[in-house]
Amino acid sequence: MKIIQKLPNSVSSSIRLRFLSDREKTIAGAEKELPLVIEPVKEKSFGALTELVRDNSDWFNQQRDTYGAILFRGFEVENGTQFESILELLKIKLASYYHFGSAQRVRITDKVFTSSEASPDLILMPHNELNMVPVRPNILAFFCQIQPALYGETPIINTEKIFNGLSSSFQYQLANFPQKYVRFVPENLLDIVFEKLSREEITEMLQNGGFNFHWEPDGSLYFECSYIPLFTHPRTGKVCLGLSTFDCLATREWYQSIAQRYQLGKRLYYKWLPSKLYKILEQRRTVKVTVEDNSQQRSSRLNTYFVNEEGKSFKLREAQASELGKTEWKNAVVFPWKQGDILVIDNLQVAHGRLNTREPRKILTAFGDMLDIRNMKSPSFQNAN
Ligand SMILES: [Fe+2]
Repeated sequence: MKIIQKLPNSVSSSIRLRFLSDREKTIAGAEKELPLVIEPVKEKSFGALTELVRDNSDWFNQQRDTYGAILFRGFEVENGTQFESILELLKIKLASYYHFGSAQRVRITDKVFTSSEASPDLILMPHNELNMVPVRPNILAFFCQIQPALYGETPIINTEKIFNGLSSSFQYQLANFPQKYVRFVPENLLDIVFEKLSREEITEMLQNGGFNFHWEPDGSLYFECSYIPLFTHPRTGKVCLGLSTFDCLATREWYQSIAQRYQLGKRLYYKWLPSKLYKILEQRRTVKVTVEDNSQQRSSRLNTYFVNEEGKSFKLREAQASELGKTEWKNAVVFPWKQGDILVIDNLQVAHGRLNTREPRKILTAFGDMLDIRNMKSPSFQNAN
């Protein structure tokens, strides 16, 4: 069946609008209209892009709301300062802090960071940025300064499509049971997670955010919060699923989908190890995936649960984890980065991740237009059964 793609009418004769073709993607997935690609017809200088964005910022933001993400491709953008200035011209109120993050990052400018410095072999599962805290970015942007030597894609996924692809009992759970995020940060890592805030400032921020928290005698910190992960987009009314349901069996579905990228031993591990054993081995490993300080080998940990009507916490069932991983993969758009790409994502509608890669790879990131999840409405959803 031929898919009819709906492109908007262009706002300028100097650009061409299109969607990525299957040839430009790593996998030809089900999603065909994410992101909207904006390319120069002729003039590709940074000055031309600046002028284009300055004159049409509202229009670009509308397209981002409609399609979930826009990709400026083929323009001559060279560094983090230029990236930041394009985001400022899009009138995004960029955040100059990165509190609560769980990835080690390097600051490039006041408002631009390197994206995760996680080990190149790992897959970072799709998530919405800072989904585990109440005040989170509406807009998230990436800039490809150095094209990855190999792989290193940033898959993006429309979360409404993930939700629609799940079984009705799973949908009911996501729509009605709060998801609880429990975080432990050892004292020696507080500076990374809270960027040099004092203990008093951290306490005040957690109080304002409505967290349950306590400080340990050794200065380490536990905090938790919970929200229904399904909500209605404040401008478009679309259904959004805040994604941070990390489970090694969901991740396994992704490793299996790109197993050919790994050596034989790893391929067998991902494909054939019995799931019970796989889970035990992976849980040992994932404790170390979040921030780790080599001097003390103490890890920051994030655990996610659902909370039932009686207030009891529970984890995803094995079958649900694998259903989620499969549905994410099926709807993911996976495309190789090109030097100079700027990808602007609606972080409420669209989740992102990172596939394995080979250095060099330099993808910068920035975010802004912070919103409070506690002000969002939840769509009603009843179990069909
Ligand atoms: Fe992220």
